[in-house]
Amino acid sequence: MKSLFITGTDTDVGKTYIIAGLAVVIRKMGIDVGVMKPFAAGKAQKKGYKSKDIVIISKAAQACDPESLVNPQFFPIAASPYTAWKNLKTKPKISTILSSFKKLSKLHDILLVEGMGGIMTPILKDYYITNLIKEMKIPAVIVTRSKIGTVNHTIMTVKMCEKYKIPIKGIIINDFDSNGYKIKELTRDFKSLTNVPVLGSIPFITNFTNNSLYRIFKKSLNFKLLLR
Ligand SMILES: Nc1ncnc2c1ncn2[C@@H]1O[C@H](COP(=O)(O)OP(=O)(O)OP(=O)(O)O)[C@@H](O)[C@H]1O
Ligand SMILES: [Mg+2]
Repeated sequence: MKSLFITGTDTDVGKTYIIAGLAVVIRKMGIDVGVMKPFAAGKAQKKGYKSKDIVIISKAAQACDPESLVNPQFFPIAASPYTAWKNLKTKPKISTILSSFKKLSKLHDILLVEGMGGIMTPILKDYYITNLIKEMKIPAVIVTRSKIGTVNHTIMTVKMCEKYKIPIKGIIINDFDSNGYKIKELTRDFKSLTNVPVLGSIPFITNFTNNSLYRIFKKSLNFKLLLR
């Protein structure tokens, strides 16, 4: 069993769609892939899993594990777990998250875990996404964008992983902004500024079917490095 924690430089950076693409390719390699989003928030879906992210990534992975394992805690407002706790009086349950993670990771060859927001999204006081990754004892993958400002956000994310001694598998640039840095220059600078490998970049996607995700992700990312 192998697990990867897919975090990002911010909310809406593309973590869910990057996991979907990764899951499709890993599955087509003949590897059994599972997905998890420990905490999710927002408007609940009417059918199936409450979390829209879980609906998307489970479909890509073709995994249909129970909601209590793939998304142990759902908050029906768009907020960090900490803010949701304060507003709704429902405390984030770290021990439940960790036991679900343990069970789920035993059911698959690889488990892709989606974070919430960025690396310092608060869960409890003095307990952030970094603490959760640390307790799961798994490496991180950082999803970043190509828009100006990304260098600052990416360096901050890498530095926080280093502070918490979280190994980083690599950076994936989600190049869906129309007026960002040139990918060649951004890759060069990320490599020299952070010493973290850049696994590749994903272009703007117009067709989100599994076949299209497979084609794009297979040719755009270094899966050997990711799964090493
Ligand atoms: N490569 C891409 N091409 C086109 N659209 C994209 C791409 N990546 C992400 N998007 C769009 O950007 C939006 C945000 O992406 P996504 O939901 O994956 O972000 P996220 O990091 O998972 O956010 P959250 O923190 O809420 O979980 C989505 O509407 C998605 O359709
Ligand atoms: Mg998401």
